[in-house]
Amino acid sequence: MKLPAGLITAIGDARKILVLTGAGMSAESGVPTFRDAQSGLWAKFRPEDLATPEAFMDHPQTVWDWYAERRENVASVSPHAGHFALVEMERHFESLCLVTQNVDGLHQRAGSHEVIELHGNIMRTICSKTGKTIDNSWIQSHPGRPPASPHHRKGLARPGVVWFGESLPEYAMKRALVKIQECDLCFSIGTSTLVHPAASLPFVALDAGAVVIEVNPVRTSLSAMAHFSLQATAADALTTISAELADSS
Ligand code: OAD
Repeated sequence: MKLPAGLITAIGDARKILVLTGAGMSAESGVPTFRDAQSGLWAKFRPEDLATPEAFMDHPQTVWDWYAERRENVASVSPHAGHFALVEMERHFESLCLVTQNVDGLHQRAGSHEVIELHGNIMRTICSKTGKTIDNSWIQSHPGRPPASPHHRKGLARPGVVWFGESLPEYAMKRALVKIQECDLCFSIGTSTLVHPAASLPFVALDAGAVVIEVNPVRTSLSAMAHFSLQATAADALTTISAELADSS
């Protein structure tokens, strides 16, 4: 792809980078997004039936089985060239912090060093009562879909992700807010910029005077306000940016 004039200079001038990623970042690895019209998960399923504490209370087995399928999908895919480009870009900056809404762990698997997970991780299982992590060995050796929790007599094993109506992990959000205030350049990649509080982060960066670059094949509420809005896929845009940054340094 052809990058807009001034983009590589703006990136090259930055010292502290924050990269917000959403489901579109993982799309080219084969993980479905939520809101894309044909392929998005929420085009096929109702979030209120599967991704709320109430749904889990009413139909724990349905929710457990749905997440088990998604876990299998995540386990079967790999990071793509865009994930690796973000790792490669780290060496150009004083810091490059990833703040992700994704629960698939693909940034960590690619080798990114600083990753803040705002919505949890689908490979982690927690107790529905205490939030404590439950070992995979416990899940495998205990019957039930979902199995009972070892941490609370009324608890069940549940996915370690944030559901609608739940708060984000306090520490993760606090760290993300510190990082967004500190950064001088913020990427927003593959997110519809609709689900708060994560969606507010690029706007906080704009208010704090950072350069904001959006990467999304489709325009969002951020597009008109971002300094650069690249209508491209994550893999295409990031591999091009990474290569041109390397050439310019
Ligand atoms: P969405 O599904 O809302 O948005 C995905 C975005 O990625 C869309 O704007 C697409 O245009 C864009 N996209 C698709 N393919 C892309 C590609 N190859 N490269 C770049 N962008 C691409 O996903 P999120 O914004 O991540 O929360 O959704 C936020 C939260 O809503 C999720 O974390 C999840 C969901 O409900 C919870 O489950 C709590």
